[in-house]
Amino acid sequence: MPVLLQQSVEGLVTDPSGVYVDATFGGGGHSREIVSRLSSKGHLYGFDQDADAMKNVIDDKRFTFIYSNFRYMRNFMRWYGCDKVNGILADLGVSWHHFDDSTRGFSFRFEGPIDMRMNQKEGIKASDVLNDYPEERLAQLFWLYGELQNGRQLAQAIARARRNGRLETVTQLLDAVRGVIGREREKKDTAKLFQALRMEVNHEVDALREMLESSVELLDRGGRLVVITYHSIEDRMVKNLMKSGNIEGVIKTDFYGNRQVPFKAIGKPAQPDAAEQAANPRSRSAKLRIAEKV
Ligand SMILES: C[S@@+](CC[C@H](N)C(=O)[O-])C[C@H]1O[C@@H](n2cnc3c(N)ncnc32)[C@H](O)[C@@H]1O
Repeated sequence: MPVLLQQSVEGLVTDPSGVYVDATFGGGGHSREIVSRLSSKGHLYGFDQDADAMKNVIDDKRFTFIYSNFRYMRNFMRWYGCDKVNGILADLGVSWHHFDDSTRGFSFRFEGPIDMRMNQKEGIKASDVLNDYPEERLAQLFWLYGELQNGRQLAQAIARARRNGRLETVTQLLDAVRGVIGREREKKDTAKLFQALRMEVNHEVDALREMLESSVELLDRGGRLVVITYHSIEDRMVKNLMKSGNIEGVIKTDFYGNRQVPFKAIGKPAQPDAAEQAANPRSRSAKLRIAEKV
């Protein structure tokens, strides 16, 4: 179930004969809607770093799938001869099928290996992070990426547990932190712990920064950047980029003191209505931001 489908695609497609990028193809829900709004001259490039997404590729000559991390978006678009595009959509995070797949380790609802790599061909697994990172580094990432106030205690509990053998499964991790995560915030804090591990394993902050900053160059004047975020860290990055053109949110000025802002916001940030939230619980934390290149 694609999140905020109509609002996001309506905000994206301003010219049916234009060139568009779906940076997070996934199940292809947003892409299908975009392609349906294109004329025979329009084209959509869909990126995903997860091989599973290839199963959903759209069989249409107006669509090209690119099996890659979106951090390389600008280079790939140059390769395809597109110096400028009319719109870029990113529906961030992992897809619903990842959460429902017990072999991937994204969800604490299922027992399974703690892997969490979106691209299973490379990189370290979340279990490597848990077992091999120094305690101090674990504490930092729980604080930075999970915004967990008890990050230090969580890191201590994990360091203690791994002295008895490597933590490889979801149950072993949950057992290790049981005493530290309070009952009243159990689900929320466990979700944040898993989010922090996932962000570290997939270098999510670096990839998002590179993709967002390259969108400034890649978008044509009047082109739209449409992003759906699911937590405050990525939302802050997107908000800052749309305000200033960089993820730090620092507005630069020219020699005469004129503000150099590459985007103007289109509407206010939107969230799914009650019906969508009820039908799709994952959409509850979603926030849609749209900006136009000026
Ligand atoms: C929320 S899902 C997108 C769902 C999609 N909009 C749909 O309608 O089916 C996010 C997708 O982005 C992919 N993804 C996340 N980070 C990525 C990155 N840095 N590069 C490429 N793909 C990424 C994930 O593998 C996942 O398939």
